[in-house]
Amino acid sequence: MFFVNIMKLLIPSASGIEAVVKRQLNSLGYPDTRAVNGRVAIDNCDWTDVARINMFIRSGERVLVSLACFACPDFDALYDGVTGIEWGDVVDRYGKVTVVTKAVNSALFAHHSIQSVGKKAIVDALNKKYGRVEETGAEYRVELDITDDVCTVNLDTSGAGLHKRGYRTLNYDAPLKETTASALLDLSVWNPDKMLTDLFCGSGTIPIEGAMKALNIAPGANRHFAYEQWACTDPKAYDVALAEARDAFTPRKLNIVGGDVNPKAVEIANFHAQQAGVSEYVKFNVRDARQFVTRSAFGVNISNPPYGERLGDESSARQLARDMGKLYRTLDNWNFYFLSPIDGFEREFGRRANKKRYIFNAGIKCSYYSFNGAKPVKHSEKSPSSTRVYSIGNQEKT
Ligand SMILES: C[S@@+](CC[C@H](N)C(=O)[O-])C[C@H]1O[C@@H](n2cnc3c(N)ncnc32)[C@H](O)[C@@H]1O
Repeated sequence: MFFVNIMKLLIPSASGIEAVVKRQLNSLGYPDTRAVNGRVAIDNCDWTDVARINMFIRSGERVLVSLACFACPDFDALYDGVTGIEWGDVVDRYGKVTVVTKAVNSALFAHHSIQSVGKKAIVDALNKKYGRVEETGAEYRVELDITDDVCTVNLDTSGAGLHKRGYRTLNYDAPLKETTASALLDLSVWNPDKMLTDLFCGSGTIPIEGAMKALNIAPGANRHFAYEQWACTDPKAYDVALAEARDAFTPRKLNIVGGDVNPKAVEIANFHAQQAGVSEYVKFNVRDARQFVTRSAFGVNISNPPYGERLGDESSARQLARDMGKLYRTLDNWNFYFLSPIDGFEREFGRRANKKRYIFNAGIKCSYYSFNGAKPVKHSEKSPSSTRVYSIGNQEKT
């Protein structure tokens, strides 16, 4: 087994949600994390940690093992640095190595050349150990990240990106990445005791991720990972993580509703909810967001409404923002969250957001707007019936 107990892991995420990934890692039992070039790093990990993080992290994109880090001003340094790694301890005789590159603010910037020098260095090192490598077996994806003339060599243990949970198998226009949807939930005030809506649910990602989170369904329980095929890993690590995932499932009552004007979207969302194992916890309706009515005094809506660049024209996207502002003003105690790239969204909505964060969605810089509702005040004294009593301003509600 390779690197037992001393691996440094890197968890990349979409720009703008690194802090969410850090908090998710903390709650998975990894308090000592730090941000490195937009990735979250954790030291002293073993294969159990690799398996657990792949299984449970909701907003990280991958789990990488950092193999080496060296100054890389030119191609000689790149070749020497890469061949210096004990590749024979990592890649088996039949391993198929794929090299991907990243180059930021460095003398080496031509991806194709970095890729071919890197690959040659790895194959030369493997040939030295095995004679001739055959590349017919398991895939090892190696990332060469050259930033500020320093090369970090990372091994990708995830394979397919972690947004691929396995439940979203039907195509739909402009879906949100599952990892981003999960981050939007974490950045909201929603908790499973509150109603959650997505009035523009498309293929259902936000409601489904909300239900999975509330029910403690591990995002990786329905898929496999690249590391499972490797000889260098602990062969029990995946099974241990899967057993932990199965134990974690906690059924509970939820009030989660998705709506979309497009019946096809609702059909797809229902299918995805079924695949994710949450169909009895989430309802999807064909409905125009502007017709939304609810009996729930408190609730949270999280949506990425359509916008010009990817769906429809910009003026109707702006009109929808105005209509959502009107709807929000009729729902005093609701929190509304929108992810949108539209300039002047707040102006259209008719109110300055309580908070605005930048998040990249499909390579487009978006803002995530939080429009708060009136805060429920929880009285510390219990009412005679022991039910919670909330008051809004001076008006009491039970
Ligand atoms: C960007 S997509 C949402 C994608 C979704 N988050 C997902 O992950 O699949 C926007 C959705 O809003 C829907 N839509 C457009 N106008 C609407 C309206 N007036 N009321 C409800 N849904 C609407 C579109 O049909 C589309 O599915």
